[in-house]
Amino acid sequence: MMLHHLLSLTALISVLDLASGQSSSSQNTPSTSATAIVSTAGAQISTSTYSQSDVPTGTAIPGNYDGAYRPQVHYSPPQGFMNDPNGMFVDENGTYHLYYQYNPVANVAGRQHWGHATSDDLYTWTNQPIALFPGGPTEGVFSGSAVVDVNNTSGFFPNQTNGVVAMYTINVPENQTQHIAYSYDNGYSFIKYENNPVLVPGGTHPTQYRDPKVIWYEDTQRWVMVVAYPIDFEIGIFSSPNLIDWTPESNFSHYGVTGLQYECPNMVELPVRGANGTEELKWVMLISINPGAPLGGSITEYFVGDFNGTHFEALDSTVRFTDFSKDNYAGQFFYGVAPNEDQITLNWASNWQYTNSVPTAGEQLGDGFRSVMTVPRGHYLKDLPRYGLSLISYPSNIMSIVDSELASNDSLDSRMVLDYSKVESGALYFEANVTGLTTPDSLDGEIYFNFSSSVSGESIAGGTFLGSGDVWLDRGHTDGFPNIFFTDKFSTTGLYNEAEGAWRLSGIIDRSIIEIFINGGELSASSLFFPTHPLDTVELKVAGLNSTATASVAVWSLKAAWSDQADANGIVRGNVTTGSN
Ligand SMILES: *[C@@H]1O[C@H](CO)[C@@H](O)[C@H](O)[C@H]1NC(C)=O
Ligand SMILES: *[C@@H]1O[C@H](CO)[C@@H](O)[C@H](O)[C@H]1NC(C)=O
Ligand SMILES: *[C@@H]1O[C@H](CO)[C@@H](O)[C@H](O)[C@H]1NC(C)=O
Ligand SMILES: *[C@@H]1O[C@H](CO)[C@@H](O)[C@H](O)[C@H]1NC(C)=O
Ligand SMILES: *[C@@H]1O[C@H](CO)[C@@H](O)[C@H](O)[C@H]1NC(C)=O
Ligand SMILES: *[C@@H]1O[C@H](CO)[C@@H](O)[C@H](O)[C@H]1NC(C)=O
Ligand SMILES: *[C@@H]1O[C@H](CO)[C@@H](O)[C@H](O)[C@H]1NC(C)=O
Ligand SMILES: *[C@@H]1O[C@H](CO)[C@@H](O)[C@H](O)[C@H]1NC(C)=O
Ligand SMILES: *[C@@H]1O[C@H](CO)[C@@H](O)[C@H](O)[C@H]1NC(C)=O
Ligand SMILES: *[C@@H]1O[C@H](CO)[C@@H](O)[C@H](O)[C@H]1NC(C)=O
Ligand SMILES: *[C@@H]1O[C@H](CO)[C@@H](O)[C@H](O)[C@H]1NC(C)=O
Ligand SMILES: *[C@@H]1O[C@H](CO)[C@@H](O)[C@H](O)[C@H]1NC(C)=O
Repeated sequence: MMLHHLLSLTALISVLDLASGQSSSSQNTPSTSATAIVSTAGAQISTSTYSQSDVPTGTAIPGNYDGAYRPQVHYSPPQGFMNDPNGMFVDENGTYHLYYQYNPVANVAGRQHWGHATSDDLYTWTNQPIALFPGGPTEGVFSGSAVVDVNNTSGFFPNQTNGVVAMYTINVPENQTQHIAYSYDNGYSFIKYENNPVLVPGGTHPTQYRDPKVIWYEDTQRWVMVVAYPIDFEIGIFSSPNLIDWTPESNFSHYGVTGLQYECPNMVELPVRGANGTEELKWVMLISINPGAPLGGSITEYFVGDFNGTHFEALDSTVRFTDFSKDNYAGQFFYGVAPNEDQITLNWASNWQYTNSVPTAGEQLGDGFRSVMTVPRGHYLKDLPRYGLSLISYPSNIMSIVDSELASNDSLDSRMVLDYSKVESGALYFEANVTGLTTPDSLDGEIYFNFSSSVSGESIAGGTFLGSGDVWLDRGHTDGFPNIFFTDKFSTTGLYNEAEGAWRLSGIIDRSIIEIFINGGELSASSLFFPTHPLDTVELKVAGLNSTATASVAVWSLKAAWSDQADANGIVRGNVTTGSN
């Protein structure tokens, strides 16, 4: 029964891919923005091994980055459909490279390419030409990762120490295999390895083998890869001296919540930041599950443990999730961030239950876009009382994208109501801290926020009750997206840490996405929301606090990192200086 269900699901996905490919090529009528694509000159530097007349090569795809639902400090594609982040690495000059699952020809999933964008601050992005193209009409370039082969272990780089190697899954209806491609020009264009694939599926499910994520393991001087056997609920761990020849070392199997498939594994070493100032490193295995998450659809779970070069062993059997809402999936860690530093992810802020129909796009290519990444999340491990080592997720360097402080208040019963309709980005960052919570009986009161439309009264709200530790988020009072799976309320419970004596809530709201963080990222949530009228009024308050506590709340406007790049026609063109090596 179960198997039958799974196989039909896979078949359904293949049909969906083909259907969207066919329907989009048959609808290949140039719209205004399609004309803009064609007229953006640029020599072809990326390698398209399969000729697809409707997919632009060698030039960034332009997009309109304004509009009621278009986030301004989050990455979203110029047009078409985006899902998983891929190939993320930071190069020697500190430029972050994001690749992503990209359908450049339709506003729904299908025709998988690797889109590409770069950033120096992780908030202000430059779109680059598509970096990886399928090799045939039934092929999709599925998710994967990238590394910098500084020591030329692959032998691909006779004359440089900054060669990039990408490893990814090629999907065809018959099977999924792992491939590599290398780049001489810092990841802007790739050459596919001539002896691909480097790994073929074992086992009994040849169509279920995907999402390789590669790291360098210093102790054994080998590359280590994790890859999903999705419907077997196994994460394969492989090692390689050269990124070409891979040895299976072990499987991490049947851990946690399985849902119906495991996808997009990551294994990463993170600093444990102890309250006593000492530091050690621990490993974390992250697995994305879809479908079948506890809240429906897609979610990511993780396990803290040890890794010795061949085997990952979890410290305990506790299942922990990266988020308590529904829009955080397939996150990937950047390769190349120094090992003792906080590591950084971007995560796909959507859910397969509804991603193909969210109202950020219409039917026609060029009419909007679909999907957005979370803000960059900084990560370390923290030993939480009773709960144990936990992944902390906070917005990385958020102050770098702040425009100005709009208001702040330090009174015990602070309440601010602000009209932010004049903030160009429509994006805000906010913080509310309560400190001096010296004993459990001082835990009175609440932190509350509400963003609303002065026109329609629609709102998104949330907060936390200090006494119980309950945290909540409600996106139900927005009317732009009626969908049975677009769950409206989320909640979880946070831990009071007597040693810290504080309760903190912070968040980013950005036109159609809100992300909130409790106690510096001990809990976090990413939630899409779609009001029919832009939200323009913020209420932020702390109330009912014990007189021994102290409070501090503040709201900042964020820069319009995308709209600020637009030309006179309102179009963001990305890197148009490409073409010479
Ligand atoms: C880093 O900057 C140096 C000096 O401008 C340049 O030669 C090198 O190619 C750059 N590396 C990357 C990965 O862009
Ligand atoms: C490169 O070589 C150095 C020196 O042998 C070694 O310490 C380092 O781990 C290697 N790194 C990679 C990514 O190959
Ligand atoms: C990189 O490897 C290739 C193939 O083994 C070799 O020809 C080349 O000399 C190497 N380059 C360096 C800098 O070691
Ligand atoms: C490095 O080698 C590659 C492959 O032979 C070549 O395409 C590229 O132009 C070379 N780069 C430099 C800077 O010599
Ligand atoms: C995967 O399917 C393709 C297309 O049918 C076929 O050419 C290839 O040999 C298959 N690979 C494996 C490892 O089965
Ligand atoms: C891991 O699991 C897969 C799928 O069940 C299986 O084919 C493979 O042999 C296993 N690998 C190891 C090292 O146990
Ligand atoms: C410091 O904290 C860490 C993590 O909680 C713990 O493992 C370690 O034993 C502590 N060290 C000292 C000296 O207290
Ligand atoms: C890693 O741990 C596993 C399981 O404990 C053990 O079998 C294996 O020998 C260890 N490998 C190394 C390289 O220490
Ligand atoms: C802080 O909030 C309180 C309660 O709403 C209000 O009375 C007070 O004027 C505010 N202070 C500032 C500086 O805005
Ligand atoms: C306020 O907190 C103190 C401890 O800091 C506690 O003794 C007191 O009962 C609390 N007041 C109220 C009204 O709960
Ligand atoms: C809230 O607390 C954090 C952590 O101590 C601090 O960095 C931040 O400035 C505080 N924010 C406000 C508004 O006081
Ligand atoms: C544009 O792309 C070229 C590679 O084609 C790269 O060298 C350059 O740094 C890029 N410029 C920007 C602003 O991203």
